[in-house]
Amino acid sequence: MKKFRWCVVGAGGIADRRAIPAIMKEENFALAAIMDRTPAVAERLGEKYGVKAYTDEETMLKETPCDGVYIATPVALHYPQATAALKYGCNVLVEKPLGMNRRECDRLVAAFRRENKLLDAGYMMKYHNLHIKAKNLLRGGKIGQVNTVRFFFSCWYPEIEGAWRQQRALGGGGSVMDLGAHCIELAEYLLGEEIAETKSFLANRTFSYETEDTGVFLFRTKSGVIGSAEASFNVPDGCESRLEIYGTEGCVVCRGTLGQEEKGSLSYLRAPSAGYDAMQNRFKPKAKKYYGAGGDLYLKQFRDFAARAARGKNDLLSAERAAQVQGVIDGIYAEKR
Ligand SMILES: NC(=O)c1ccc[n+]([C@@H]2O[C@H](COP(=O)([O-])OP(=O)(O)OC[C@H]3O[C@@H](n4cnc5c(N)ncnc54)[C@H](O)[C@@H]3O)[C@@H](O)[C@H]2O)c1
Repeated sequence: MKKFRWCVVGAGGIADRRAIPAIMKEENFALAAIMDRTPAVAERLGEKYGVKAYTDEETMLKETPCDGVYIATPVALHYPQATAALKYGCNVLVEKPLGMNRRECDRLVAAFRRENKLLDAGYMMKYHNLHIKAKNLLRGGKIGQVNTVRFFFSCWYPEIEGAWRQQRALGGGGSVMDLGAHCIELAEYLLGEEIAETKSFLANRTFSYETEDTGVFLFRTKSGVIGSAEASFNVPDGCESRLEIYGTEGCVVCRGTLGQEEKGSLSYLRAPSAGYDAMQNRFKPKAKKYYGAGGDLYLKQFRDFAARAARGKNDLLSAERAAQVQGVIDGIYAEKR
């Protein structure tokens, strides 16, 4: 079987920590080449993974035939680099967020559609077994009518000289762009519908960089589900994420499932109401608990991408959703600027 050949653009944190190791795990994949603008990074990663390393994407793409390009650079580079890869006829998986704003994302989707190439964004949390479980519970009506959703997702991200996420021109935004984007994408995936409206608070509560270190936003979906998301750069690592979904007949509560690993737990409570009881003698149903399967979310994402690329059917639904996520983020930032 012919191997799916990957080129990597941007060999920094996520590429070295998760993405390239995932590519190396799959026997039907081959890492063809890597590129990073920083010569020392390119050289080190080239040696580490035993592939040719470049410091310029055009040269790499010209010299290296490949089936897919994975882009993991600062957000401001996603649009020009995905456009460059398309010029060489490549399918492209761009790390999240897909672009700096909805306009860039829509232009990418349109360009890939014209060339009949696959484009997607690295929202890998939808491959988490517990998020799939949550989606199936919701889809099966197991918590009745879904009414509210709540996300808490944080990390510790202090001032770092030159850090691109702390500069609006390079990262597009702070904790909302970085962590909130996952919440929005996951909310739309789980609920199977778009967010139509938001209201937000953004703050630099702890750090003094240009982008926000705290973002809290409310949202309402087209059908009327109301939700909230808290995305923070100023909470110590180790404070567990939360994803809670409440309906008329029960709830789904995920702890520690938002992140780079398929871990954490999901507790599902089904408790259809027996009517209003003024004495409040309520029966206490027991929640069922499920656990993260410990798989590799990035490997699942790469496998899915390669399979879809092989089918060759102008499959841009997921990229369109990533563009829609960007539209929601544009709305949150537009409120504040
Ligand atoms: N899905 C996830 O789990 C996840 C996690 C972290 C980051 N990300 C995303 O991945 C992307 C990269 O984030 P990161 O944390 O790895 O950042 P990083 O700063 O650790 O790495 C970025 C790399 O890009 C390189 N670079 C800068 N300019 C370049 C250019 N013009 N061409 C090529 N390389 C260039 C830098 O030298 C650096 O090695 C971002 O879009 C981020 O949002 C996704």
